[in-house]
Amino acid sequence: MAGKSKRSKSSNRWLQRQQRDYFVRQAQDKGQVSRAHYKLVQIDQRFKLLRGNARVLELGAAPGGWTNYLQDKVSKGMLVAVDPLPITAGAATHVIAGEAGHPEVDAEIDQLLAGSQFDLVLSDMAPNISGIRTVDQARAMDLADIAWSACEMWLRRGGHLAIKAFQGEGLDDWVQARRKAFKKVTMTKPKASRPESREVFVVAQGYDRPPQG
Ligand SMILES: C[S@@+](CC[C@H](N)C(=O)[O-])C[C@H]1O[C@@H](n2cnc3c(N)ncnc32)[C@H](O)[C@@H]1O
Repeated sequence: MAGKSKRSKSSNRWLQRQQRDYFVRQAQDKGQVSRAHYKLVQIDQRFKLLRGNARVLELGAAPGGWTNYLQDKVSKGMLVAVDPLPITAGAATHVIAGEAGHPEVDAEIDQLLAGSQFDLVLSDMAPNISGIRTVDQARAMDLADIAWSACEMWLRRGGHLAIKAFQGEGLDDWVQARRKAFKKVTMTKPKASRPESREVFVVAQGYDRPPQG
């Protein structure tokens, strides 16, 4: 019984925070799939990452807030959205139900690209939170590495990467390493990202892809 009342107190707090939250209300009022939508809108407004014919790989796409923004923005390009969970997406979006970093997902992406490359790799992937900070941070950094591997495989020279990351062990080194591969790397926290969260976004522009072969 004690456990039950503890749970309902914390879910009440969550509910109150959601109701207070401007971006959650906006998402509900405007029929957006999620609050996350506004984070990408704000990142795109600042960094101008998208053009109409861009080829975009979106990792961690469910429930589809970013996907909905992206499919309008790149209507003449290509959008590949990956997540093991269901994604709300239009018919033109290539949805891959699986985990990025798994060989079968890589194979599907290879097939869709048919030898071409992405202009932009985006990741809003987040690990299942265990509550143990060191474990969760290590998992988040693994996801950052998966997004980076996607760049090594499929991002064109001059292309961009934007990922969600979490302030903590390993992030500064990870960002330093990306500075060697991209012309410009910026850490940013969009207004739509909750101030109390350790969430930040790393935007890396101008991939200096090593020559292949
Ligand atoms: C914060 S949510 C993404 C929200 C989404 N950008 C939106 O706007 O609706 C994080 C997502 O990352 C996904 N995720 C975690 N690990 C993943 C992986 N290896 N490959 C693909 N998606 C992953 C989770 O399933 C979850 O749906």
